Amino acid sequence: MREEFTDPGIGDAGLTSPALTSSIEEVDELGLRPRRLADFVGQRELKEHLTIMLEAASMRNQPVDHVLLAGPPGLGKTTLAGIVAAEMGVHMHITSGPTLERAGDLAAILTKLGEGDVLFIDEIHRLSRTVEEILYPAMEDFQLDIVVGKGPAASSIRLPLPPFTLVGATTRTGMITGPLRDRFGFVARLDFYEDDELEAIVRRAAGILDVTIAPEGAWEIARRSRGTPRIANRLLRRVRDYAQVRGDGTINEDTARTGLAVFGVDDRGLDKVDRAILTAICQQFRGGPVGLSTLAISVGEQTETVEDMYEPFLIQQGLLARTPRGRVAMPSAWEHLGLAMPSITGDKQPGLFS
Ligand SMILES: Nc1ncnc2c1ncn2[C@@H]1O[C@H](COP(=O)(O)OP(=O)(O)OP(=O)(O)O)[C@@H](O)[C@H]1O
Ligand SMILES: [Mg+2]
Repeated sequence: MREEFTDPGIGDAGLTSPALTSSIEEVDELGLRPRRLADFVGQRELKEHLTIMLEAASMRNQPVDHVLLAGPPGLGKTTLAGIVAAEMGVHMHITSGPTLERAGDLAAILTKLGEGDVLFIDEIHRLSRTVEEILYPAMEDFQLDIVVGKGPAASSIRLPLPPFTLVGATTRTGMITGPLRDRFGFVARLDFYEDDELEAIVRRAAGILDVTIAPEGAWEIARRSRGTPRIANRLLRRVRDYAQVRGDGTINEDTARTGLAVFGVDDRGLDKVDRAILTAICQQFRGGPVGLSTLAISVGEQTETVEDMYEPFLIQQGLLARTPRGRVAMPSAWEHLGLAMPSITGDKQPGLFS
């Protein structure tokens, strides 16, 4: 195992809230991370493209072209970066957009790269402009331009870098600048997983965690995981706890159901915050439109957390929509919450939800 890849401190630093796991669970999560492409479940098309790129690069004895991975949290971006490094048999160096404050921070990392290594930049959409500009020649020509000195005496020197592969990850494709995006040879978008894929992930994780799980139990956890492997693994751990304390330690359909209910996960896999968001739009804002920041404040979360972590799944499920004027609840949101929709005849019926 590569030490760069197993450092729990930086390996999975994500957003706050649901992604924030205790350090013991982080270690657990790292154990559950697939290390080879063959163990990576789902994302069939993306895997196929990566396989071809990796094989072609190996045959030519060259590093893989730069890869940009985009998609909601917990779908496997960091995991895939590690897989690229492992499949190519090279080291992975991990950093992230917000930690690279000055040009020198990036220069220091670039000069440490070995031939063909993978440089993983998480949250690459949060790179500062000056750091991003250092990255352009590094990506394109494997050159590092450094400015030495200040004022009129300043001069620029050019250092050659070993060929390397940049793997960038982002939860916001829209925030990547055009010039940066264009320098990636491959831009991949990760989609939410299908229930049967998540079931395979749950079973694999149960095997690693040494928990006995019935197929119906695995299915129940999978279909409530919001299309997200990280959530599937987290729910599995919660149900495992429940089964251990309240049952005989094995997971069947019943323990999965009651266990998930105890932890506030509903039939569609929505958690407390998901439901709070929908309830706020439906009741407090009468279905919307409501601005993102107002919505975030009313549920006590940060705007980025609401936007990156919760909204994509709610939108994918047809429960919520983004409009130019703000967020609106879709009819299925009212239905899911068991609320009656206000009439659309124009009279606002103020007493409807009181
Ligand atoms: N395709 C997969 N097959 C099996 N397990 C997976 C898969 N994708 C992700 N996982 C599991 O989900 C966890 C989260 O994945 P990962 O950390 O790679 O997500 P991420 O996209 O980098 O998230 P973030 O945007 O929050 O950084 C991993 O620890 C791994 O156990
Ligand atoms: Mg990650």
